[in-house]
Amino acid sequence: MSTLYLIACAAGPTQYVDEGVRQAQARGWDVCLILTPSAARWWEPRTGELEALTGHPVRSQYKLPWESDVLPKADAMLVAPLSATSLNKWGAGIADTLALGLVTEGVHMGVPVIAMPYFNRSQGAQPAIARSIADLRAQGVRYLDGADGYEPHPPKNGDASAFPWVRALDAVRAA
Ligand SMILES: Cc1cc2nc3c(=O)[nH]c(=O)nc-3n(C[C@H](O)[C@H](O)[C@H](O)COP(=O)(O)O)c2cc1C
Repeated sequence: MSTLYLIACAAGPTQYVDEGVRQAQARGWDVCLILTPSAARWWEPRTGELEALTGHPVRSQYKLPWESDVLPKADAMLVAPLSATSLNKWGAGIADTLALGLVTEGVHMGVPVIAMPYFNRSQGAQPAIARSIADLRAQGVRYLDGADGYEPHPPKNGDASAFPWVRALDAVRAA
């Protein structure tokens, strides 16, 4: 069975990341879930549910130097939902979370890396966003926007529960 790292930031759909895990598992992936530290706070009381679902520890912090890796090697990495903040940090090469550390290196180690954002149009209007998207694409990251992914919604009008996990997983399969 191939291993998918599903990496989720503190953006609305992460409240429903268990749905993303289930959909990936239904497609045959062994799913390892990685949360940003902010996203981990959202799931803190229920992390055990995610660990039971995936059968793996849920990672959100870098390991200590003397600790071993606890997850199997990734065959593909999907960052979904990708927050505006993590997008801009990633574009700038900042890997101060395990989530960003995995993808900033992974894409240059030949691992397919796919990212689907979730943020509103006002957040998306920051000039840094377009620059970051271009920087990610130039590195080979498959950034999913438009009809194939997620297009920013008007402020206060998002529906996080309707996040199109299926589009992200189709792109992973295609990669
Ligand atoms: C309740 C709540 C919902 C949020 N939803 C989003 C969101 O949908 N998209 C987004 O880009 N940021 C959202 N944010 C802001 C991010 O959580 C914030 O920028 C955070 O620093 C992102 O960190 P991370 O990318 O490391 O998870 C939200 C914040 C809160 C408190």
